[in-house]
Amino acid sequence: MANYPIQRLRRLRYNPKVRDLIRETEITKNDLIYPLFVVPGEDVKNEVKSMPGVYQMSINILVEECKEVEKMGVPAVILFGIPEHKDEVGSDAYNENGIIQRAIRAIKTEVKDLLIITDVCLCEYTSHGHCGVLDGDNILNDETVSLLAKEAVSHCQAGADMVAPSDMMDGRVSAIRKALDYKGYTHIPIMSYAVKYASGYYGPFRDAAESTPAFGDRRSHQMDIANTDEALREAKSDVEEGADIIMVKPAGAYLDIIRRVKDSLNMPTAAYQVSGEYAMIKAAGKLGWIDEERVMMESLVSIKRAGADMILTYFAKDAARIIDSNK
Ligand code: PBG
Ligand code: ZN
Repeated sequence: MANYPIQRLRRLRYNPKVRDLIRETEITKNDLIYPLFVVPGEDVKNEVKSMPGVYQMSINILVEECKEVEKMGVPAVILFGIPEHKDEVGSDAYNENGIIQRAIRAIKTEVKDLLIITDVCLCEYTSHGHCGVLDGDNILNDETVSLLAKEAVSHCQAGADMVAPSDMMDGRVSAIRKALDYKGYTHIPIMSYAVKYASGYYGPFRDAAESTPAFGDRRSHQMDIANTDEALREAKSDVEEGADIIMVKPAGAYLDIIRRVKDSLNMPTAAYQVSGEYAMIKAAGKLGWIDEERVMMESLVSIKRAGADMILTYFAKDAARIIDSNK
């Protein structure tokens, strides 16, 4: 440090009040979106083996959970559905009596002050676990896109406040935007999973959502983990197609991408701290190898510091509790 002893950086670190004054990044409850998994049945609450503290819930339990989330001051949930029946074309994804559609209606009847976002994809609904309609091993882009648009419309008809397409097909944001507008949902925002990498960090989620592909992988549509310029092309094209919020996923291993997307597009930016990120922190915490709470909050601060305006995280309730107890 050239200016020492005039400049002493430690001066701003001695007093906790001074530290509070100069702090640049703070996590608030308003930054949090809580993912939830809904399954058929009554009184079902199955803990996901690779995600302690995360459950598959039947609709009646889910409604109670949403009441609690609302009471804690977490503003939003994102819903994932596991249907009774899976088929080649994921019919239950766009069935007005599908699991998600029924779940939304049930939540909306009993919980008034919670934003409901829905994940729009076919992989939970197809018998083969792929994100779209297949021709042999190939996912048909345009055929899939029209089904995704139907799925998004049916979520809005059930009462969804926002839709979040996670499939990574080309052109799906504009198809969804057109379909929503045509049906009168011009006010419903699209949060696009614009930059979604083909990541090993989704492993535990596939247990939770029962959506592991029966063969092959998702590399023909999700992004190569090594690329950055392509992330900007993905994000830009989604903005041009009408996306309102751009998501980067996963979060912790892609902080550079969050920063680049935020700086180059000036869009509301979301980051998804995915199942594998959650599982790693939980596991090391359980073993006593790290301080779980501390590392969890550190992971959230780093995601926000990188440029995220909002974070989808399985830690949302835990973080809300910590935020409250620090007041
Ligand atoms: C479905 C979807 C996935 C996630 C969100 N939506 C899984 C996948 O692409 O296989 C991952 C979320 C997580 O790991 O927490 N397309
Ligand atoms: Zn999918």
